[in-house]
Formats: sequence, structure tokens, C-alpha cells
Amino acid sequence: MTKSDSLVAKTLLAWYRKRRRILPWRENPDPYSVWISEIMLQQTQVDTVIPYYHRFLERFPTVTALAAAPLEEVLKAWENLGYYARARHLHEAAKCICEKFKGKIPDTREAIIALPGIGAYTAGAILSIAFGKPIPAVDGNVRRVLSRLFAIEAPIDQTDTQKAVQSLAAALVPKKSPGSFNQALMDLGAMICTPKTPACADCPLRDLCRARQAGLQDRLPLSAKKPPTPHKRVSAALIRNGRGGVLIVQRPARGLLASLWKFPGSIVKKGESLAEGLKRTVHEELGLRIQVGEQIASLNHAYTHFRITLSAFRCSVFRCTGCTGRPRALACQAWRWASPNDLEKLAFSKADRAIISAMTRISLTPVMNDPIAGHIR
Ligand code: ADE
Repeated sequence: MTKSDSLVAKTLLAWYRKRRRILPWRENPDPYSVWISEIMLQQTQVDTVIPYYHRFLERFPTVTALAAAPLEEVLKAWENLGYYARARHLHEAAKCICEKFKGKIPDTREAIIALPGIGAYTAGAILSIAFGKPIPAVDGNVRRVLSRLFAIEAPIDQTDTQKAVQSLAAALVPKKSPGSFNQALMDLGAMICTPKTPACADCPLRDLCRARQAGLQDRLPLSAKKPPTPHKRVSAALIRNGRGGVLIVQRPARGLLASLWKFPGSIVKKGESLAEGLKRTVHEELGLRIQVGEQIASLNHAYTHFRITLSAFRCSVFRCTGCTGRPRALACQAWRWASPNDLEKLAFSKADRAIISAMTRISLTPVMNDPIAGHIR
């Protein structure tokens, strides 16, 4: 650590003691609560995470409790937080920790990074905050802060630049209070060194910041041009039986939103109409031939690598010669007729939850003795 590195650490730690955000996982930073908070905070804002964090720790207070719970319950506790692979990895990792480490989260980088869902950033965060090890925790916000502090003019989204930033961060982390130091960088990124118009006048590092000295703070970090996010059209079928049930299917155990429940239907191909795509995908998924009726909802949703427009239609099942009208789980794990209570209790993605709200608003469910779909069993 150079003299100026230690000045950065000292200045930042003094600022953190006075200005840090009061957050629930900072009160008692034991390895389990730090791990849960760090996983929830990946790609998610602090304010969104706080209520989930409290509920999750209440429902699964220890690694052992998490490992013993059914995956469905973990997914339910995660509902609407998005990026559901995080919940599945947490559950798998909890089982691993119970089997290999007697329920105690390991305190070496090698062991912790081998667990599902834990990369360099999360390993650094847990080891520094919960175990006091001088290891950096570099996420997108910290990268932005360091790219300004050191006036890095290479694109921040390139691997070489990220490696260089990681080395700079490793040199900065002090042996004393490394967890506070890493969290100070996070707080600085969240409150002062923000993506647009950073509040340099309030920054404790203003006199040490090379971007500010060069007047580059609004231009950094640089990024290599990104192609536009692809867009997909998705159709969903709202099919009722005569007993107030709505047909839902459980997604496959692997892939995006794995094992969450949804309405039948899927991605519509180019050149297909929403209704044609819906008929095709419901047939592939459940072996059902359907009639597509009125559209009852349409909404936009963004995932990491693509955006969707999800359109939901009231539908009914055709009964023709040779087909029973009974669903078969062909391209899904399971299907069921969901009662309003099931719709509330089972885990759905955020976009599917929005459809459920739209259905409730127009009183589409529960419906008894529906004349269109009354013949479905
Ligand atoms: N983002 C990721 N980890 C964090 C932490 N420990 N405190 C505040 N924001 C964070």
C-alpha cells in the first residue's frame, strides 16, 4: 500500500464512520446475514431489498433452516425480487455448507467462491465484512468510483480494465476495517459518486480524485458501445374451468425463471400473430388446442439481456375428435387449475404477478360456471 493508498483508506473510513447508511445487515454482520444481504443486493436497490431481507431471515434464520426448506418456499420468499437463479443458488449453497462445513459458512476465498452463486465480488464482500479479511469487493458501483478516483480512460466494461480495477482495489483495502472500507466505497458510489452528475463538492476524496483534477468526472467511466437490448413478444392464455380455477403451468427446472409458475403460452415467432403464437405454444406446452379471445392485459418487462411485451388473452379449449381437452405436461414440469388462493400462494415472476393483478381488477377470477370454458376438466 502506497502513502496515497493509505490516505484514501483513512479518509474514506473517517467519512464512513460519520456518514454511512444505517442498514439492517450492518447491525450484526454475521456471515449468514451478510451472505443473504449481498446476494439480494446483486442488481437490486437497497430500499427494495430491506423488507425481503427481514422476511427471509425470519423465515430462514440459519443456514440449516434454509437448507432444510423446500425450494418452492425459498422461491416464494424471493417472489418479485427478480433474478431467481440467486434464490436457487442460495438454497443449493446452503445444502453444500451443511454437507461440507457442518452448517458454518467457510472463511477462505477458495472455499467460499466454490459455492453456487458466489463470485469474486460476493466472496470479497462476505470475507471482508463478516470475517475481517482484507479482500476487495468490486461491483459496478465500486468500479465507477475507482475509475474516477484513478481517471481510468479505458472502457470499464472490458475484461482487461476490470482486472486493472480489481488490482487497484486490492492495493487500497486496509488490513484494519476492510469490511467498513469496502462498504464505504459502496456508500460513496450510491450517495455521492453517482452515475450522472456526481456530488464532488460533498466527496471526502475530492482532493485525491484524478478525474476531478482533470475535469473528467462527468465523462467517466467510459463504456464500449452496447448493442440495443433485444425485444421479444410473449403471449399468455387465461383459461378457466367451471370451478373457478385458472390453468397455470410450472416452468422447467432449468433456464430463466426456472420452477416458477406461469400462465400457458410463450415467445411468439417473427411473422406470427400474438394469437397464432399463443395457439402454437400452448399446444407444444400442454397438447391443447385453444381458441383465443379478447386481450385483457399487455405489459412491458425488462430482464438482463432482453425485454418482453407480455400480452394475456382470455382463451378456451377446443374439444375435437381424438383430443380429450385435458392438459398434458409436455414442455413444463406440471400444470394445475389454480384457485385464487393458489394464485396468491405459489411463486410467479413479476410480469405474471402483473397479469394476476390485471385479472383481479377486471374480476376474471374467481369465476364459477364460466360458459366458455365450463366443459374443461
Ligand atoms: N450493495 C452491496 N452490498 C452492500 C452493502 N453491504 N451495503 C450497501 N450496499 C450494498
